[in-house]
Amino acid sequence: MASYIKVTTTSNNSDWSVERNVYQDAKNKVSEIHEKEILEFSQTIQSAVVVTDFTEPLSHETEYPISTLNADEILIKNKAIGLNPVDWKCKKFKFGMYHFPWINGRESSGYVVKQHGEEKDLIDERVIVASTSYRDNRTSTFQEYTVMNKRLVWKLPSHITFEDGATIGVGLVTAGVVLLKSFQLDFTKRYRGESLLIWGGSTVVGMYLTQLAKILGLTVISIASKKNRDYLINEIGADIVIDRNNDLDTILKKIYADKRSIAFGVDCFSKETSLSVIDILGDKKNRIAKPAQFVGIVSHPKTSNQPNVIIKEIAIKQFHEDLDFGESFVKATSKFLETGLVKPIRTKVFEGDLGTVSKALDVLQKQGASGSKYVVSLKN
Ligand SMILES: NC(=O)c1ccc[n+]([C@@H]2O[C@H](COP(=O)([O-])OP(=O)(O)OC[C@H]3O[C@@H](n4cnc5c(N)ncnc54)[C@H](OP(=O)(O)O)[C@@H]3O)[C@@H](O)[C@H]2O)c1
Repeated sequence: MASYIKVTTTSNNSDWSVERNVYQDAKNKVSEIHEKEILEFSQTIQSAVVVTDFTEPLSHETEYPISTLNADEILIKNKAIGLNPVDWKCKKFKFGMYHFPWINGRESSGYVVKQHGEEKDLIDERVIVASTSYRDNRTSTFQEYTVMNKRLVWKLPSHITFEDGATIGVGLVTAGVVLLKSFQLDFTKRYRGESLLIWGGSTVVGMYLTQLAKILGLTVISIASKKNRDYLINEIGADIVIDRNNDLDTILKKIYADKRSIAFGVDCFSKETSLSVIDILGDKKNRIAKPAQFVGIVSHPKTSNQPNVIIKEIAIKQFHEDLDFGESFVKATSKFLETGLVKPIRTKVFEGDLGTVSKALDVLQKQGASGSKYVVSLKN
């Protein structure tokens, strides 16, 4: 981060212009030192949490190469890293890693230490990272320094900590892609009178989905465990929370206790719960004028067994592949974060060095998350 020089003058001269000059000199000196720091970012190695093989324990390496930058790219020093269930699942179940060594980690927050070429306008900026290009390990976050396209980072608002910023990444992007790309909704419009049903409303994705859906004017019906009900209603903005431990008939009755039209449904949990959501959307009590739309972010049937439910695909890679979309999503949601319309979700924070990522992943695997995001806060 920038070095700050505390300006003190021993002069008794009360002429403020003298003090101003002293202050200005010091400011110039700060810029000089800072400029030097930027020019001198010549580090080539870093710490990283590396997968060396599916069957080997994660390796905490301290001399891993720092990636080089291409046009429009920036290098971010990570200060807090978010964990996802896929970060341990891909190793245990042997999928989604295409070479070794491999680096996982899809989100973080930190500050910019380097830009491509001569550009310097973003140096020192606090930013939020969402890495959807997981095949490009340079963008992974289980390392000290992550590469991102400069158009795809959020400036971290001053009221949000690095730890809270690290919850946002892929959860917010997935929610956005579901609403804006899969369902073709639009932040400039309001969809009052229509509802969104989320199975797994207390998942990270479900909580960001709820917040964005409320901005769009939708009524949100969230299926989650009872213990998260108050948090989802009071802090996240869900309108109705139904205990996921009820049987499906009871859930159906509760959903349609009021005359309701559910235009959109999202499953954030499994193929089985996807089928339940499709059945709920297709129920004859659903007062929809046109077919309901469904997205399953984990797994879903290829075709719908309900004639009035359409299954839509989701591809979060659209965030980085369609750069104009990604950038416009970052711009829109930056305003939501600035104004508090979207709030970072609850965290479970682990403090330490990068090696703490492996420990936190073990806890995530054993205990799971419940209405919160696991975050590693880097203290070195
Ligand atoms: N397709 C994509 O692009 C994409 C993108 C992001 C994530 N994903 C996938 O989406 C899933 C969710 O990710 P995440 O990070 O948001 O998850 P997460 O926060 O780690 O999920 C934990 C939550 O799962 C809930 N849960 C457990 N059993 C449930 C059930 N039977 N029904 C409903 N909810 C249940 C728990 O809710 P309670 O504590 O309230 O019971 C808990 O809050 C993961 O499988 C992830 O890999 C896919």
